[in-house]
Amino acid sequence: MNQETTPQSIAAMIAANAARLSTALDDHMRNSFRPESRKTLRKFHPFEVSELTGISLSNLRTRHQEGDFPEVETDSRGRRMYSAAEIDQIRHVMARTGRNGDAYLPGRRDGDALQVVSIVNFKGGSSKTTTAVHLAQRYALRGYRVLAIDMDPQASLTTMFGYRPEIEFVESGTVYDSLRYEDPVPLSQVIRKTYFHNLDLAPAGLMLSEYETETAYALQHRVEPPFTQRLAIALDEVEADYDLVLIDCPPQLGFTTMTALLASTGLLITVVPSMLDVASMAQFLEMAGETVRTLEEATGPIDWAFLKFLIARYEPTDVPQSQMAGFLRSILLDQVLTTPMLKSTAISDAGMTQQTIYELEPSQVVKKTLDRILESVNGVADEFEKTLQRAWGREAD
Ligand SMILES: Nc1ncnc2c1ncn2[C@@H]1O[C@H](COP(=O)(O)OP(=O)(O)OP(=O)(O)O)[C@@H](O)[C@H]1O
Ligand SMILES: [Mg+2]
Repeated sequence: MNQETTPQSIAAMIAANAARLSTALDDHMRNSFRPESRKTLRKFHPFEVSELTGISLSNLRTRHQEGDFPEVETDSRGRRMYSAAEIDQIRHVMARTGRNGDAYLPGRRDGDALQVVSIVNFKGGSSKTTTAVHLAQRYALRGYRVLAIDMDPQASLTTMFGYRPEIEFVESGTVYDSLRYEDPVPLSQVIRKTYFHNLDLAPAGLMLSEYETETAYALQHRVEPPFTQRLAIALDEVEADYDLVLIDCPPQLGFTTMTALLASTGLLITVVPSMLDVASMAQFLEMAGETVRTLEEATGPIDWAFLKFLIARYEPTDVPQSQMAGFLRSILLDQVLTTPMLKSTAISDAGMTQQTIYELEPSQVVKKTLDRILESVNGVADEFEKTLQRAWGREAD
């Protein structure tokens, strides 16, 4: 055997490759990382403002002419273009002066509880992060004050917001800082404003994986407060600042996920309608059910206001998928959202550059492709919004 292929030298080669790769990656990341080039959000066309606010295009034009709305920039062709903050200002003008003004402000009213939704499933790649980021952005654009919490040490959600957790949050700065057992910091210290108006982020990073091991230790040594309360306690500090909290969970049913579930008022389970995914979800539900039952014996009943299933990455023309979707609906009935999240190249292509379909310039994408996926994702968000409104005792039409 050649000297170079003895087990020992292969091990050495692997180690040397690993070292070279990680140094090169590190250099590459640092060179391409420019904190000053943070993401920004595009401006919105009048037809988008109309769709988001419910103000008709003609009313939008008239109220501008009458000087009721803030003047906004125009593009090279003289069309008005709106920032998300300007859309919100307009919404507030309508709430003050429009007939049925309340309808323009969909968020919490006096006495309404903060809604905290965990987006969960332990099947990897079941569209949790994609759903979390799209819902968070859609609801922010609709006028809700949204906090997105990244509870996955892989930090995909954090990355979607233009952060580089492997550089920026190595030592600190993630939600772990507020959950850890030793010297936790207030959640407000880790929350970042994003380039999205009305949307803040509690980031994740690899550091968050420590929480899993620390919780096991804390349980043995009865460190208080226990994991069942830690996120709820952290959220108490900022609860008045938000209408809605969306939590992106990791693909395991560990302490991190349980911590999120126990701070939630409702759950959204994403499922790709394939045999393997549904089998895995059944297992997830069984394990989650058992865990919750055990916890309830210790802490009393856990009352979620809602449990919804979202059929994700759905291809209606795929016969086995549509059969599986039908099967899920026949068993889970109206717990399954009627609108599925379609599979679309607009989502996967935009995802490569850390964008959502709301960030894409309409002109960047084939109109038919964009319209189809917008209809699907907006449909999902609108339907789930009714669930949230119902949790506030408001029956949406
Ligand atoms: N509706 C969709 N159409 C096309 N691609 C999608 C869609 N939803 C998700 N994807 C793609 O599938 C991949 C996995 O999605 P995502 O990261 O949202 O799943 P996840 O459940 O968060 O995964 P993990 O378990 O690793 O956290 C991503 O590359 C994403 O761009
Ligand atoms: Mg994810």
